[in-house]
Amino acid sequence: MLKRASIRAGLLGVVALAGAFADCADDSSADYLPTCRAITRAASNASTVYYPGDPSGHYAADNEHWGVTSSSASACSVEPGSIADVVKILQIIAATRTPFAVKGGGHATNPGFSSTKGVQIALTRFNQVVNNAATGTVDIGAGLLWDEVYSALDGTGLTVVGGRLQGVGVAGFMLGGGYSWKTNQYGLAVDNVVSFELVLPSGTVTTVTSADADLWFALRGGGNNFGIVTKFTLKSYPQTDVWGGVALYSTQYVDSVNAAAAKFSATAPDKKAVVLPSYSNTPTGAIVIGLLIFYDGPSPPAGIFDDFLAIPYETLAVQTQSFVSFVKSLAYQPDGARMRFSSVPVIQWTDSLLKVVYNESQYWSARLAPLEDPPPSVSWQLDTMDPTYLSHGASSAWPPTRAHPFLPGALFFSWANKSSDSAMLDAFHRSAATIRAAASAEGQDIAEAWKYPNYAIEDTSLQEMYGGNVAKLRAIHARVDPHIIMGLAGGFKF
Ligand SMILES: Cc1cc2nc3c(=O)[nH]c(=O)nc-3n(C[C@H](O)[C@H](O)[C@H](O)COP(=O)(O)OP(=O)(O)OC[C@H]3O[C@@H](n4cnc5c(N)ncnc54)[C@H](O)[C@@H]3O)c2cc1C
Ligand SMILES: *[C@@H]1O[C@H](CO)[C@@H](O)[C@H](O)[C@H]1NC(C)=O
Ligand SMILES: *[C@@H]1O[C@H](CO)[C@@H](O)[C@H](O)[C@H]1NC(C)=O
Ligand SMILES: *[C@@H]1O[C@H](CO)[C@@H](O)[C@H](O)[C@H]1NC(C)=O
Repeated sequence: MLKRASIRAGLLGVVALAGAFADCADDSSADYLPTCRAITRAASNASTVYYPGDPSGHYAADNEHWGVTSSSASACSVEPGSIADVVKILQIIAATRTPFAVKGGGHATNPGFSSTKGVQIALTRFNQVVNNAATGTVDIGAGLLWDEVYSALDGTGLTVVGGRLQGVGVAGFMLGGGYSWKTNQYGLAVDNVVSFELVLPSGTVTTVTSADADLWFALRGGGNNFGIVTKFTLKSYPQTDVWGGVALYSTQYVDSVNAAAAKFSATAPDKKAVVLPSYSNTPTGAIVIGLLIFYDGPSPPAGIFDDFLAIPYETLAVQTQSFVSFVKSLAYQPDGARMRFSSVPVIQWTDSLLKVVYNESQYWSARLAPLEDPPPSVSWQLDTMDPTYLSHGASSAWPPTRAHPFLPGALFFSWANKSSDSAMLDAFHRSAATIRAAASAEGQDIAEAWKYPNYAIEDTSLQEMYGGNVAKLRAIHARVDPHIIMGLAGGFKF
């Protein structure tokens, strides 16, 4: 059993979020009720429109997000039950120019990226998992969560390249890139797509494959700019039991853990082995060093994780288990209601850079603590990757170049009080800048370390994420969505 500190460290544990919505002071959502009524009239009986106060709980569930700061009280929510109804909904939205949102798993932390005061589309009825054994592919409805997909495939001996933690949605993850437990072996999630079923902004339904140069490029990392995806078809791969879990260390051993993590990151001993280090505060202000450890097999070969296992740990909860039980054990729910991620990619997590990150965790934990009681939760979560991980796919919207492997890192902070927002957002920017500057100072070419759209904070520029692809993506967007219908939905916009 893990103790309280580990829950706060953000590695395990569930804290139910209040059903409240953030920032719903103004009531402009009422302006969009006529659009909602038009959708109610036009949609078939496969679909349902829900209004505030809906006693069935669907309206609340459709608007709910992992973070309360990502939720908004919409005029109505709609759960389309057919592609024809998605088309009708999009056409009504386009004709009335109503703000809308499309939600997959609702794990975006930037406000308004999958929420709206207008029409909240929740794709929960697109929930089919179809294992096509003959073609080695799996069809996955765009409303599913990854753990639901893994549950459906459990026992088949197969899996797909998808999300790492419980609760993350298929759609947003896929459209942003997708770092998986399998990425060392098979690349990003977008490198494993066979086709997308897409409702274009024009209302045309199409299946996008590698034969369709522009949309194929744009959908693999370009977010929600090109239409509403209703189904992803992914390659399937064999899946055995896995070995993995969580290790936690006290700061007494930070030098040893950093050294082991830097060595693991630099040497990448085995493509089936993954270690994700993190530094997180506890309510008392102490820092806890966490590792998510994974081996894609029932037991790791001797030696791979020895450096870590030799360090005295506070907790070690690692075991052989099914893939789905491993993912479900990583139920990751923050204490605070308000939150963001921020992307901090580097070329390599060296020992000296890990020292900087650790110092950042100490510094900001202390500095932000006076804001709230209990203090804000702050966490620096780093990825290590095999240096070949970008070689499994070809040119895509993200990343803009695959010549230089780089490692994503994320700052994740959560807090309780709106009055702390500006201090917290400032801390994100300053800490990310400190880490990137330190990487640069030790000679890393961070211009080639692209910010990851699925971790990037809302004011990140397109250039920082998409680099030389921005112009091409703008041109594709202009052709596919000339009336800027997808621009009525939030997110990073071309
Ligand atoms: C606990 C946690 C763990 C995470 N772990 C990982 C990880 O291991 N690897 C990783 O790469 N990322 C990870 N992420 C980041 C994750 O990829 C993003 O949060 C992603 O946006 C989640 O997708 P979603 O469907 O849940 O999000 P949503 O908030 O539902 O959607 C995100 C974006 O996608 C758009 N969108 C959703 N559905 C559709 C659709 N059908 N058609 C068009 N656009 C659509 C939305 O409009 C929005 O802009 C994690 C995030 C959290 C909170
Ligand atoms: C939904 O509509 C179809 C076609 O109009 C009809 O056959 C079906 O019985 C309806 N289902 C329900 C539950 O009303
Ligand atoms: C720790 O981080 C803070 C904030 O970035 C910085 O001012 C300080 O110099 C750092 N200390 C060390 C020892 O690096
Ligand atoms: C939130 O901020 C308000 C105003 O500054 C303050 O009164 C309140 O105590 C704060 N709440 C917490 C949990 O810190």
